[in-house]
Amino acid sequence: YSHLKGKHFITLREWTNAEIEMVLDVASDLKRRFYMGEPTPLLQYKTIALMFFEASTRTRNSMEMGMAQLGGHANYLDTSTMQISHGESAKDTGVILSSFGHGIACRYCNWGLGNAYLNEMAKYASRPVINLQCDLYHPMQGVADLMTIREVKKKTDGLKVSIIWAYATSHKKPISVPLTQALLFPRFGMQVTLAHPKGFELPDWVIEEAKENARLYNGSFVVTDDMESAYKDADVVIPKNWGSWSGKIPNVSIEDFKDWKCTESVMALADEKAVYMHALPADRGNEVEDSIIDGSQSIVYQEAENRLHTAKAVMALTL
Ligand code: CP
Repeated sequence: YSHLKGKHFITLREWTNAEIEMVLDVASDLKRRFYMGEPTPLLQYKTIALMFFEASTRTRNSMEMGMAQLGGHANYLDTSTMQISHGESAKDTGVILSSFGHGIACRYCNWGLGNAYLNEMAKYASRPVINLQCDLYHPMQGVADLMTIREVKKKTDGLKVSIIWAYATSHKKPISVPLTQALLFPRFGMQVTLAHPKGFELPDWVIEEAKENARLYNGSFVVTDDMESAYKDADVVIPKNWGSWSGKIPNVSIEDFKDWKCTESVMALADEKAVYMHALPADRGNEVEDSIIDGSQSIVYQEAENRLHTAKAVMALTL
């Protein structure tokens, strides 16, 4: 796997299943060593630039603390304080930051801009570019979710996983988490249901690619606007964001989707051992009842913690 050194980590589509398995293996090993208090100086004296166009709790800290735990240094950059704010190009930024260190990581979620910006930097950077979430992809969340599902369910083949949110391209809001999960989970044999109200469709190409991934890897992928059918007998449910985002979409109110909230009554439709996941931050009260997110079925803190171990694995393998 030495070929992973220098490989960009932007969509997960460019990473084979075997390569993603390697990320999970390294993450599990680093997690064990973290718990044992063993030093893991895999990136001693190495540096990475962390560019953030938007706020973050999990992503920023998993990268900064993770890099320190690997013996290196992560340089946090608020892009509003960089020359980007005066129009400096992605090319110049990518060439220069990659010449100073060993990698560049960037979060840029603006619709229509983020993924293009990352690709432009990757085209010119001499070091790997890691996507910390853009408008289309959140690969770091995707691998942490996969690791968490594996840890809890001990398998992925045949698991019924329901992703219960999405944003239509026309709303011009980031669709990175459901898009990443929709493409990734069928590649690991999961039976994936994507549920959302009418009008919140993911782009057609995503649905087509998710179905093709399901065909190739013995999974399945269906889309429905019937929320209850998505909960029914599910092993894993991932409902998110109807509250917080709906208030920010013109002519859409939280009231319109209050029935899409994750409640005790809909969770009761799922398998009795079903788990509740959420990338966080959660809009408590609007999108999920406290009794669910704080309850025994919730694995959100394990999922969030795994952002640290997977971030370290991605950096260790690519830098
Ligand atoms: N899930 C996630 O990416 O969290 P942050 O926005 O806090 O980084």
